[in-house]
Amino acid sequence: MTSSRSLLVLGATGQTGQHFTRLALDAGHRVRALARTPGKLSIFHDDLDVVQGSIDHELDLGALLDGVDAVVMMLGDVRAQRDRQVNTTFVRSLVPAMRRSGTRRLLYQAGGLSAAPGTRLPLVLRAVRSTIARGYIGQHEDNEAVMRYLDEEARDIEWMVHRAGIGSDGPSKGELRRSSSSISIGTFVDCATYNLRTLLDDSAVHTFDSSAYRRD
Ligand SMILES: NC(=O)c1ccc[n+]([C@@H]2O[C@H](COP(=O)([O-])OP(=O)(O)OC[C@H]3O[C@@H](n4cnc5c(N)ncnc54)[C@H](OP(=O)(O)O)[C@@H]3O)[C@@H](O)[C@H]2O)c1
Repeated sequence: MTSSRSLLVLGATGQTGQHFTRLALDAGHRVRALARTPGKLSIFHDDLDVVQGSIDHELDLGALLDGVDAVVMMLGDVRAQRDRQVNTTFVRSLVPAMRRSGTRRLLYQAGGLSAAPGTRLPLVLRAVRSTIARGYIGQHEDNEAVMRYLDEEARDIEWMVHRAGIGSDGPSKGELRRSSSSISIGTFVDCATYNLRTLLDDSAVHTFDSSAYRRD
């Protein structure tokens, strides 16, 4: 993909999504944002189109995807995901709609405690997941089901998954780089910057990588 694209952003009111939306607009992209509560989005820009709606309800995906080059998902609802795989159900209808509209690319942000298909988390991350992060297990299982679906049933789409590790909403701590072997605890703004760069990176297609700060 080249620069200046039309993006559908899901989760634009979230901690990563707010940064991502601002960065994408600053970089000259057009953004259509789906938001349950549009008033939570504190960004105003001529190239930002905010559509009210929830992935948990009926959506006109054809209209949402009209003219869109790529979809970016930074979605999560920990409470809902305890009981239901909300994101997986949505992605299973999003991907066919992307095929119909000719939208080729999808970036999905999961977590570093979600295992990529066919892999096991390292022991220390498994321990974290089952102890201090156990309240997020539903979210990780949902993210893992999304990854399995993309891997097994959607390889015609140019998807990439960012298995992010995020610790705070502080200032930038440096540049996150794609990594299949290590993970850093980043800030939301650094993860958003990474997402925007990775979305335009053809070599990231069909990867489930984590991100780690570059050490020079
Ligand atoms: N937070 C972390 O520390 C962390 C770490 C690693 C990975 N992740 C992953 O990154 C992703 C995003 O995390 P985040 O912390 O940036 O998100 P977040 O702050 O929790 O925000 C989630 C976003 O998803 C939206 N959303 C949730 N359910 C929705 C629905 N039914 N319809 C439409 N929008 C909906 C929320 O909208 P509302 O504003 O309406 O609620 C919000 O914009 C998650 O998959 C998470 O697993 C997070």
